[in-house]
Amino acid sequence: GLGDVYKRQEYMMNSMNDRYIETEINADDSGHIASVFALGNGYLGMRGTYDEDDEKLPDESGMYINGIFETAEPYKYYCLCRGLAKCDQYTVNLPDWRIIEVYIDGEKACISNGLKNHKRVLDFKKGCIERTFDFTSKTGKTIKVKSTRIVNMERVHSAQIRYEVTPIDFSGEIEIKAAIVKNTWIYGTYPTYTESEITDKNGIVLVSKTKNTGMRAACAVLHKADDSQCEVVNTDERYERVYKVCVEQGKTFTLEKYASFYSDVDNVDNMSEEARAEAANICQIGFDNLQSEQEKFWENYWKIGDVEIEGNDEDQMAVRFSLFHLRQQLATVNDMSIGATGLTGQNYSGKVFWDTEMYLMPYYIFTDPQTCKGLLMYRYRILDKARERAEQLGGVGALYSWCSIDGEETSVVYEASTAEYHINSDIAYAIWRYYDLTGDRDFVYNYGAEILFETAKYMAHRGCFVDGYGGRFCINAVCGPDEYACGVNNNCYTNLMVRFHLNYALRIYNEMLENDKAKLDEVIAKTGIDKEELALWKKASDNMYYRVNKELGIYEQDDCFVYNDPVDMDTLPRHSDIRTMFHPLDLWRMQVLKQADVVLLTFVLGDLFTKEEKKRNYDYYEPKTNHGSSLSTAIHSIIANEIGYYDQAYEYFRNSAFMDIYDVKKNTSGGLHIACLGGVWMCVVNGFLGMRHYDKGIEFNVHLPKAWTSCKCHINYKGSVIEICAGQKETVFSLVSGDGFSFNANGKEYSIDKDNAEVHI
Ligand code: BGC
Repeated sequence: GLGDVYKRQEYMMNSMNDRYIETEINADDSGHIASVFALGNGYLGMRGTYDEDDEKLPDESGMYINGIFETAEPYKYYCLCRGLAKCDQYTVNLPDWRIIEVYIDGEKACISNGLKNHKRVLDFKKGCIERTFDFTSKTGKTIKVKSTRIVNMERVHSAQIRYEVTPIDFSGEIEIKAAIVKNTWIYGTYPTYTESEITDKNGIVLVSKTKNTGMRAACAVLHKADDSQCEVVNTDERYERVYKVCVEQGKTFTLEKYASFYSDVDNVDNMSEEARAEAANICQIGFDNLQSEQEKFWENYWKIGDVEIEGNDEDQMAVRFSLFHLRQQLATVNDMSIGATGLTGQNYSGKVFWDTEMYLMPYYIFTDPQTCKGLLMYRYRILDKARERAEQLGGVGALYSWCSIDGEETSVVYEASTAEYHINSDIAYAIWRYYDLTGDRDFVYNYGAEILFETAKYMAHRGCFVDGYGGRFCINAVCGPDEYACGVNNNCYTNLMVRFHLNYALRIYNEMLENDKAKLDEVIAKTGIDKEELALWKKASDNMYYRVNKELGIYEQDDCFVYNDPVDMDTLPRHSDIRTMFHPLDLWRMQVLKQADVVLLTFVLGDLFTKEEKKRNYDYYEPKTNHGSSLSTAIHSIIANEIGYYDQAYEYFRNSAFMDIYDVKKNTSGGLHIACLGGVWMCVVNGFLGMRHYDKGIEFNVHLPKAWTSCKCHINYKGSVIEICAGQKETVFSLVSGDGFSFNANGKEYSIDKDNAEVHI
């Protein structure tokens, strides 16, 4: 359980259910808090560091653009085998344009010099950070400071800060410094180099470039303030404006910084000109207008995107915190995906995993389905890289890299990365879900089918019909979701997802054959699919091998897990990755799971299992799971709720919901666990509301935690939006827009439509 973790940071519980409030500063916790206060819009990401630099605190700043990355030095291998990853990739830290500092009589107002009445609010409704503090100098003068920071949701290239200083008990000179660090050097990150710069009287346009990838980003920053007494100091490292202003007691001096970023991932001719023009544009629009635009965005967004919980404000805050960050990380331009920590920190260095398809898309697709197209187009954009990857490994078709920014495999731990072939089928599953929910034929016929066929082809040739198993189709030497089990044969999750994948590829083939033969021919020409290939898919899926253990009544995770060495789980830590504690040879023979594997399968392909089977599998695997991955607890919560383990379901939900807020895994300083945040929505909607989405339709099975009196949210299903208002005794489904649909709730069929717009169960 979370136990002492809850107590550790009681100060955060000032937070209200629509905002997260920090009133005390814990210098040792500054990395964690910089992630919690991250702002972003899927294109830009900005860590939540304070406005001023403080020499006594670690530098936790971070400014990222989705897709702008650097490659590390090539990996050195003792024995260079075919297909090993060449080098790592890192989202780079772009110019740190945030810095604003105020000085009184030469003394900086900063945390280590003692700020009073510090309050910082991450406001989910307004979509900004508002910070206020007082500072008294050693010379006895007090100022009040207010700063407001916004990363724009509508104008994804831009962000702005307003900084207001008011002398409380004196009139006289204060000094404000507004700085930009051109190339940030932070431990564990890669910097950029200045390629060119232009300054004018209001600011600077800087073009930065990475060394190895040669990727460029332009950053324009303009300033608005009374600048009659402003001196500009521009060095190679820093651009700084120093305002020396005489302020009357009670009167406010205001400085505004407007920043805009364009980069190589944007399709523009002149990125520095675009950045300059956009900064000038937002500067002209002005802070107040941009702020109300931002508020409108979020107001509108929450109409469908929100989950309202009555009965427990802490849970409400944590759920909104998750949804707020999920939307902030959603890439909406340039066909990008979302890294494991989004654009909130350096852990996983910006790389994309299966997290997007399996843990993030559920929330996006059931609230704002169209946004998922770009996420899938990212996969199409890197399909050629996946084809190359298949070839590098001696295969055919396409294999997506396990973790990468541009599609190139980066992980050296091949046994728990490249071996996670299930990523191909997770992508296929996401395409199924997208098509089933949106009916976007244009996407599937032009792009999705090509992905499906190429990845199906890889999987069908990656496996083999093995005589020893009666000629059944086996996929050997793989790694399933449980990354403690490597090189195993026939991971059940992988095999059954591949079966789903092959069947779905065949289905799309047949559908296109019927509806659009010309388009199908184009895809056939690109993928080289022929009759034999189709027959192979059918034969492999019909003969897919997996093991059901009759004695234990479970699906075996793979060919060996059940026969591995038993483990005393009390000797192992929970919620941390134990791979560094053991030699791999020891870990691989242990009966311990990192995260939900068969249990995940009983959720994702839940209609293949009876409730009794789900229970038996949960009972077997859950006690052997140490949740070394933050992706684990949400899935356990969902299945626990389904099988009636309500207290455990709630505990696991809380674990996911507070993972980053309480820094449960002690690594949130490296960025938020975005998939875990996606899991929080899944705990509520798939867990407590029991929503399942299958080919045959959608179903609900509501069971709210004792701590909640009600839970309200919206679901977009095939173009109709319904509101679900669940209470302890009754649940009301009402049609908000669209024609309605049929669904199953608590085992009974219902229909909702314009004539019958409300269903009570
Ligand atoms: C998990 C993976 C996940 C990755 C990125 C790992 O610890 O085991 O399933 O994709 O983190 O979030």
